[in-house]
Amino acid sequence: MADIRYDDRVAIITGAGGGLGRQHALLLASRGAAIVVNDLGGNTDGTGSGHTMAELVCKEIEAAGGKAVPNYDSVTTPEGGEAITKTAIDNFGRVDIVINNAGILRDKSFANLEPENLDAVLDVHLRGAFFVTQPAFRVMKEQQYGRIVCTASAAGVFGNFGQTNYGAAKMGLVGLSNVLAVEGKKYNITSNVIAPLAKTRLTEDLLGPLGDKLQPEQIAGLVAYLVSEECTLTHEIFSVGGGRVARVFVGLAKGWVKGAGETPSIEEIRDNLTQIMDTEGYTIPTSAQDELMALGPILAG
Ligand code: NAI
Repeated sequence: MADIRYDDRVAIITGAGGGLGRQHALLLASRGAAIVVNDLGGNTDGTGSGHTMAELVCKEIEAAGGKAVPNYDSVTTPEGGEAITKTAIDNFGRVDIVINNAGILRDKSFANLEPENLDAVLDVHLRGAFFVTQPAFRVMKEQQYGRIVCTASAAGVFGNFGQTNYGAAKMGLVGLSNVLAVEGKKYNITSNVIAPLAKTRLTEDLLGPLGDKLQPEQIAGLVAYLVSEECTLTHEIFSVGGGRVARVFVGLAKGWVKGAGETPSIEEIRDNLTQIMDTEGYTIPTSAQDELMALGPILAG
């Protein structure tokens, strides 16, 4: 089969001045995509800003014969999000791909988490994805084509000590992506989520000796595939890192049924816990409607 290419496609990649985003940008550009390299250029806690990071990645892409333009807006405001899409339209005339990747950390155990460390993290990861994706989504709807990837984390999908702010923001992205997948379906817009693991400036102090086997470029192949025209997967979540790519899913177990429209008592819940918890025969709903449909035959008796 032919290699996958992105000629005439335009990609917005947030936080692409380093780490994972830079790798996504280099790979997509090497296969023909024009890239908006967005990066605020600040520190890992979200403080500071600068132009150097995004500029250097653009120079790297151009030196290899690719097309890229830098953008330095923060993803944390609606104006920033609009300006990022405008950069794509003004320079390349369209937006086909959005990769929500910008991220910061403000880790604190839950009892010690201050409101400002909640807000800063929700602003970049969750609100940032809304602000960047919404103007791009409107363009994609017009074009009847779009590919969206959100960058979540095992910290949200599975849980991790000291990361309630980050975990909640990251799992919020799963909700955003799932609904975008449902809303985007009739416009040929797909939306998927990755939960990556790689050694970057965000994680280098946490990974220890394992870090050397967890390189940022190991994430880009999956992301590039998900945003390719030939990939029609949507509403999915993937764990990716260290050379492994694996589907993660939210499944619905068959459950225990007391009876159509009946009211389970506290004791009946206790007494039927084995069946409630049993995962055999689970399904993976692709929408809330899908889940309701699964309840239909039960309600019908
Ligand atoms: P990184 O720190 O190298 O990359 C994040 C980039 O986002 C930085 O270049 C930073 O300047 C930029 N950024 C931060 N705030 C911004 C804002 N308001 N507007 C625009 N750009 C902003 O770290 P890494 O690891 O490459 O992170 C990329 C994404 O992957 C993040 O969303 C992170 O939470 C996520 N992630 C990374 C994991 C890993 O193992 N490296 C694990 C799980 C998730």
